[in-house]
Amino acid sequence: MPAIAAIDKLEGILASSENFLQRMHQLGAEPHQRKVMHRLFSPGEAAEMVGRDRTTLARAEPEIGMDAPRRNPGNNRRVGYTLEQVQSFRRHFGTLPWRNPETDPPLVIACQNFKGGVGKSTTCVNFAHYLALKGYRVLVIDTDSQATTTSMFGYLPDAEITEADTMLPFLDGEQKSLAYAVRPTYFPGIDLIPACLVLYEAELGIVMRIGTQTTREQRAAFFHELKFGIQTVADQYDLILIDSPPALGMISINVLLAADALLVPSAARMFDFSSTVQFFRMIHAYIQQLDPEKTYRWISVLTTLFDRRYESQKQFFEVMRACFGESVFQRVFFHSSAVINSAAQFTTPYEQAKPDRAVLEMMGSVFEEIELSILREWPSKAAALSQRGIT
Ligand SMILES: Nc1ncnc2c1ncn2[C@@H]1O[C@H](COP(=O)(O)OP(=O)(O)OP(=O)(O)O)[C@@H](O)[C@H]1O
Ligand SMILES: [Mg+2]
Repeated sequence: MPAIAAIDKLEGILASSENFLQRMHQLGAEPHQRKVMHRLFSPGEAAEMVGRDRTTLARAEPEIGMDAPRRNPGNNRRVGYTLEQVQSFRRHFGTLPWRNPETDPPLVIACQNFKGGVGKSTTCVNFAHYLALKGYRVLVIDTDSQATTTSMFGYLPDAEITEADTMLPFLDGEQKSLAYAVRPTYFPGIDLIPACLVLYEAELGIVMRIGTQTTREQRAAFFHELKFGIQTVADQYDLILIDSPPALGMISINVLLAADALLVPSAARMFDFSSTVQFFRMIHAYIQQLDPEKTYRWISVLTTLFDRRYESQKQFFEVMRACFGESVFQRVFFHSSAVINSAAQFTTPYEQAKPDRAVLEMMGSVFEEIELSILREWPSKAAALSQRGIT
């Protein structure tokens, strides 16, 4: 085979793929194409979410000024409540799970591992959906130039998101607060700071700016930019989830130092395990160098993509438990066709009009364990936890 001219070949690939993206963008620009939340909650589901029985909810509707849910003309049963309506009930009955601003700090959780494809973005988006359905106020920050998370929220990153929409202007010192980059999403309760490919270029920009600083303190400040940015918007949220790039770089270090807790997805497989150990080794070195006094509320490995058909994965999970001890969640995120099929439509199982109950149960069990590790950090929740027998 003759050699191919790299530039010609790449130009050909880019011409057709960018044309495809452009057409997707034109479709996306139609108002009816903007992503919407389709899922409704039956009176039974809403009752469970709010913590009151369905009759109590129905009686409260006029009091709250809520229109009664639409009825199915076939059987005259109520079709269901929207998530906003569920939130109105929670507000009315005092069952919102929000942190107490006097005692409970907002928690910044980074989904981080330098290993690629271990489910960082999947965990980040699905956990954000889980938390929002529970009623928490969530900010998701996409810091990965691949922008998977941004896509999952209904954007075509490289057609619809520009540098000005991302965290970059703040990191570049052009903005004094991150508020400009925060946008509401179609999913009630979740705001997003989106990403696009230009974040990749930011790496070099930050390196060059660091190079011009004279003192060690000035240089170290560049690694804390994201942390400072988050502080400018955090008080409006209970939780801030960060999706991170699968590599060590200036942005990854910013994420590392901005986080209050590290959620480290890792598959129960040999290479993933060794990459995760390497990840811990690298972050140890960077934290020692840049912020030796740094504290985390917790650091926990989440076993992802777990396939119980493979004996080796079960064995590896035991190895991870033995090595990481209490720093690995007991519950595992199973490999699931429902997760793959939802992702193919840029959705999660949580937003399907007819959700797959088994996958919701599986993820609910995983995310409940992570949620508990959050609630333990909030003093106002201590009494409720101890009533449930949780210390
Ligand atoms: N529990 C799961 N079951 C089935 N497929 C999954 C599951 N979790 C993730 N996947 C699939 O695995 C692939 C990688 O997942 P994801 O994009 O979340 O990983 P990542 O760590 O964010 O990757 P990257 O390092 O490229 O950012 C995706 O195709 C995703 O749909
Ligand atoms: Mg990702």
